[in-house]
Amino acid sequence: MSAQSKLVFIETFGCQMNVSDSERILDQLRSMDYMAADTPEEADLLLLNTCSIREKPEHKVYSTLGRFRLIKRERPGIIIGVGGCVAQQEGERLLKKMSYVDLVFGTATIHKLPMLLKEIESKRLRISNTELTDTIDPLEFSGATSNPGKLKSFVTIMRGCDNFCSYCIVPYVRGREISRDSKAVLSEITELAGRGVKEVTLVGQNVNSYGSRSGKGSFASLLQQVCKVNGIERVRFTTSHPKDLSVEVMDLFAEEEKLCHHIHLPVQSGSNDVLGRMNRGYTREDYLGRIAHLRRVSPGISITTDIIVGFPGETERDYMDTLDLLKAVRFDNIFSFMYSPRPGTQAASLGGRLDRSAKAERLADLQRLQRDITLEKNREKIGGIEEVLVEGISKSSATEVSGRTMCNRMVNFRGGMDLIGSTVKVVIEDAYANSLKGSYLRGEKIC
Ligand code: 5AD
Ligand code: SF4
Repeated sequence: MSAQSKLVFIETFGCQMNVSDSERILDQLRSMDYMAADTPEEADLLLLNTCSIREKPEHKVYSTLGRFRLIKRERPGIIIGVGGCVAQQEGERLLKKMSYVDLVFGTATIHKLPMLLKEIESKRLRISNTELTDTIDPLEFSGATSNPGKLKSFVTIMRGCDNFCSYCIVPYVRGREISRDSKAVLSEITELAGRGVKEVTLVGQNVNSYGSRSGKGSFASLLQQVCKVNGIERVRFTTSHPKDLSVEVMDLFAEEEKLCHHIHLPVQSGSNDVLGRMNRGYTREDYLGRIAHLRRVSPGISITTDIIVGFPGETERDYMDTLDLLKAVRFDNIFSFMYSPRPGTQAASLGGRLDRSAKAERLADLQRLQRDITLEKNREKIGGIEEVLVEGISKSSATEVSGRTMCNRMVNFRGGMDLIGSTVKVVIEDAYANSLKGSYLRGEKIC
């Protein structure tokens, strides 16, 4: 640590987009001589990257800010900043409501953080900057992010969303869909590969419509180019919208060796009535057609999804249709949520709201069903051989290392530090709800 080093603590809530934004924030702050703190108590700068997609993460924002406030009471010199979706929504109001907050920044003003912080540090101003433009400032995503020594990195390829699913706040807090220039994306990935990154995940709210508004090329062609970058061994992407998932992109799972065999394809509901009221733009049959195509071109592909239960007007029949869809598809895993009304969205004014206990019961039931399916699917891996990119020492045992398979499952196996960063073959011997266990096939280091 240099003599002037300051410490920053970043608390991040929400999606991979936010995790990726927080990485970008940290990268920018490093250039201002900040280093990451382990705890908020020791930091000079406390940042909160917020999420407003559902009620629960939004509540967590306010409880975390309460914690930050107590720290500032002990050490009044520290700076507190709030970014992300809640900040975008609330803007100046946050500064007015919370006298201990010094900075509010939006979802598209992360690149302005160094400038804003310098003003706060030198003039002790309180600032809100949540401008949301319809164009990407060339500086907005410039410069590859990622800590030195990291194996994996997110790369933002677009921001915003034009879909206006009736339950969703994202189009209001992330603005219109805008794609980055493919040259900028490719040069960032080339730079990351030069720094030792082996796996990239392309992120955006709706990656399948990359380039469609601006003529910047298709997502399929971007993926093909990313797969050609020397040094990058694995390519993933998230999130996909079923209505925009093209045959070209699906076929790449058979054609591109570096493309990991996993797709996160949020379905939200198995009922056509509910899908219509959600404004999703596809039917259950369309969705099942996509799944069949994916499995035809890539038989072992891992498929995960998002489900919302208790959308306004969801009947017992609609809910049964969702359970039935889970049984038909047999997803490798799901993320499931109770519907939560978001102010200003179309669905927030729909009638037929279900009470919390009915939603909770449906959610618990659905999660039970999926737990069994996930375990069964994990057990199907026993006896097979998986390629694992070793990421580090296992959390459960110091004599084991862990890493992910191409289909995104965590695997733990006996091995030492020397394996970290390499891709090895592992024979799977046991399976649990969230991970696999296996043995390293010695001499089978792939790269
Ligand atoms: N209520 C519940 N879940 C929601 N999601 C988005 N908005 C809401 C909401 N209002 C879920 C969707 C989406 C995931 C990121 O969050 O399933 O795919
Ligand atoms: Fe929200 Fe729908 Fe856009 Fe996804 S596609 S971010 S659910 S509006």
